[in-house]
Amino acid sequence: MYRYDHYDHLIVRERIAQYRSQVERRLSDELTEEEFIPLRLQNGLYMQRHAYMLRVAVPYGLLSSAQMRMFAHIARKYDRGYGHFTTRQNIQYNWIELEQTPSILEDLASVEMHAIQTSGNCIRNITTDEFAGVAADELIDPRPFAEILRQWSTFHPEFIALPRKFKVAINGAIEDRAAIAIHDIGLTLVRNDAGEVGFKFMAGGGMGRTPILGSVIRDFLPWRHLLTYTEAVMRVYNQHGRRDNKYKARIKILLKALGVEEFTRQVEEEWADLKDGPETLSQEEFDRVAQWFQPHGYATLEDSDPSAAHADNRAFANWVNRNVKPHKVPGYAAVLLSLKKTGVPPGDATAEQMDFVAELADEYSFGELRVTHEQNLVLADVEQSKLFELWQLAKAKGLATPNIGLLTDIIACPGGDFCSLANAKSLPIAAAIAERFDNLDFQHDIGDIELNISGCINACGHHHVGAIGILGVDKDGSEWYQVSIGGSQGNNAAIGKIIGPSFSAQQMPEVVGRLLEVYVRERFEGERFVDTAQRLGVAPFKEYVYATPIAAGALVGEDHYA
Ligand code: HEM
Ligand code: SF4
Repeated sequence: MYRYDHYDHLIVRERIAQYRSQVERRLSDELTEEEFIPLRLQNGLYMQRHAYMLRVAVPYGLLSSAQMRMFAHIARKYDRGYGHFTTRQNIQYNWIELEQTPSILEDLASVEMHAIQTSGNCIRNITTDEFAGVAADELIDPRPFAEILRQWSTFHPEFIALPRKFKVAINGAIEDRAAIAIHDIGLTLVRNDAGEVGFKFMAGGGMGRTPILGSVIRDFLPWRHLLTYTEAVMRVYNQHGRRDNKYKARIKILLKALGVEEFTRQVEEEWADLKDGPETLSQEEFDRVAQWFQPHGYATLEDSDPSAAHADNRAFANWVNRNVKPHKVPGYAAVLLSLKKTGVPPGDATAEQMDFVAELADEYSFGELRVTHEQNLVLADVEQSKLFELWQLAKAKGLATPNIGLLTDIIACPGGDFCSLANAKSLPIAAAIAERFDNLDFQHDIGDIELNISGCINACGHHHVGAIGILGVDKDGSEWYQVSIGGSQGNNAAIGKIIGPSFSAQQMPEVVGRLLEVYVRERFEGERFVDTAQRLGVAPFKEYVYATPIAAGALVGEDHYA
């Protein structure tokens, strides 16, 4: 993985010194809160409902065991013993004291980490496939390009005060695991007929109150032009994005207003000045960065069936089936450690679990870990022969729930328990649904399904692209939930459709139950929930869900998260 050079160390250190002085001035009231807000946001520090929240960048979701141990240390020393992994492959701490933030940043810097580009109207931390570099279906490793973009965008003077935040995702595999269609820029690495590497360039995707899928603005951009073309897109956005209205300030609104053709024309016009200029990538520059992402020293092994020696162990077979993914090197596998155990808020990990996964990474996976945008963790390079051993260890620490991609692998934002923008709570709804459908046989029967929950229309919980999406809404001061179905991320991205009037929190598990009943009744053999929902449309689901009164059940988990 990438290691900081002299410049990286220097800018991070200088940034912390500057921030420490800003915090001191705020604490002595030399700076007002209003003056301080943009300064703290540039360093990942938000104010939430109860306390400050610090968001730390995990560039493209890749981290070392030493960095994970530092996360555990921060959770223990400065927070309440846990952290929250997010849909943008970062980590958040929910209970931070302002006074301590400069020291936290210093601790992070000691392991080459920081909180730059995790908030504010800049180009945010770039995300990618959690199996980048190892996925069996990968065409080209996206990580060197993600790192090149990271270096280019960090403190880019022209783009630190954009009309709004800006999110970039890159995918280099056949399956899109980076949800590129819902990003401001979504890049897919491809080869053209001549075998040259380049990008299919999408722009203008996003969620929030106006969900829009990205549009392809160039089918093939040779890789050398990545920075100049991105710069051209950024310039068009920076000049014409709606600064007058923050709800209309994202690039998706500009692209929609101009139309794809006109937007593309303006980008190409801008690019004409930049093309082949000094930011054009050379092979040498690519190689400088790519050297950090060379394959590990893999042993020469044969592929084997990990379950074969444990044929009588159904629990292990379930885990292999759901949580173990194919690797491009024979004899290896990528393992997902589930952070979605029933009773635990999605994405939360305790300091003990973080230390433990760091140990697992050292022992089984070349000391590296990944964070997924579905809020789980990955050991990307595990020998197949060690899977059983690893499973037993992970299981003992509550990290082997065999539910990846299933109903209880819920994406949820922090919602009303933490976030001051929330209309409603997300976590108790996730807990109640997980509790009701905890039965693994049932979940395995239902199969692949994305259930996503956001506490407000900002859509941090990706509800628009959930096969079942749940959105917290405010009705006369109380918390209600609107349900949509048929949303999808990845290769066939789609925005879900609302089924009808909203429900109370207590009704939500039953509503999900009824949606699943319709699916079970109507599905073709092997058809996923999302495909049934898209094939049939909302009508049969709506009809059944609203047919009879929905009893209000107990909201399991409410006490737990209060
Ligand atoms: C203090 C807590 C948070 C605040 C105040 C916050 C605020 C926001 C706002 C205002 C938006 C909408 C932006 C727009 O459309 O212009 C947004 C979008 C988003 N946030 Fe958050 N957020 C918070 C926590 C989180 C967390 C914990 C996650 C991940 C689990 C997250 C991931 C996202 C994503 C994926 C989007 C939508 C994608 C997009 O269109 O940008 N946020 N957030
Ligand atoms: S979706 Fe709304 S409630 Fe949830 S974290 Fe984002 S801003 Fe907060």
